[in-house]
Amino acid sequence: MKGVILAGGSGTRLYPITYGINKHFLPIYNKPMIYYPLSVLMLMKIREVIFVANREDIPLFKKFFGDGSDLGMKISYTVQEEPRGLAHALLCAEEFAKGDSICLILGDNIFFGHGLPEVLISAKEEVEKNGGAFVFGYYVNDPERYGIIEFDSSGRVISIEEKPKNPKSNFAVVGLYIYDSTVFEKAKKVEPSWRGELEITSVNNQYLKEGKLKVKLLGRGFAWFDAGTYDSFLEAGEFVATIEKKTGLMIGCIEEISFKNKWIDRKKLEEIAKKLEKTDYGKYLRKILDESE
Ligand code: G1P
Repeated sequence: MKGVILAGGSGTRLYPITYGINKHFLPIYNKPMIYYPLSVLMLMKIREVIFVANREDIPLFKKFFGDGSDLGMKISYTVQEEPRGLAHALLCAEEFAKGDSICLILGDNIFFGHGLPEVLISAKEEVEKNGGAFVFGYYVNDPERYGIIEFDSSGRVISIEEKPKNPKSNFAVVGLYIYDSTVFEKAKKVEPSWRGELEITSVNNQYLKEGKLKVKLLGRGFAWFDAGTYDSFLEAGEFVATIEKKTGLMIGCIEEISFKNKWIDRKKLEEIAKKLEKTDYGKYLRKILDESE
């Protein structure tokens, strides 16, 4: 399975901050926002990843991640020419996928929770083995903002509605989707929604119609943020700061995950830690090295 990180869009919901800065590099406490979704793919042991971004922002992504070798990964980039929605952005990665299954993650989504990697890896294995799609629901108190799941009386999913005016439940579909290789033909069939976008929800509804959509609800032990508004952005940063200060463990530290996945060796991690030695981030990497001796 390969990873696709959608990091395009116009960032209008964070104006004026994002007039000149791509939102994915804004800090969520002590790391750029984009580290968090990348770290989730890494925890899923997905080693080949593509970023889909606006043309003018691609050099910035490259500056951070290069060809991925510093993380022991293979990272590439592709341009989304216009912000026409998530299903459109996904299509930009068709060539990259080359018939493989994919995990699609939104560049502004932040996940945290005990056992999360295990839950995601078992969903990944399910799609690799049996095809179809896997999405995750999370209980929210602002359902108008998301793709919302409608259940029948026996708890079966009957539809997903994008940003409903009258939400049929409080379960939002989070921005992490696992798809088999038929996702691209489905994305090509999507028509623009009322907001003029090719919605990822329309892709999920096609899987649902075919009886090939698995939905797992993430319980209260998980935290999920879509950091695309002033408030959610701030809340995500406060959350990360609180957990990290309390435990002394970082969330979304990509070099740590890479080292623990054995994708980079001590020498490489030492090199990175040295470059960052004046920062708490660098000290943390040094601690990881010391503890692994
Ligand atoms: C997108 C999806 C929506 C999903 C949300 C999760 O919304 O369209 O279905 O629930 O991401 O973050 P958007 O960020 O485009 O408003």
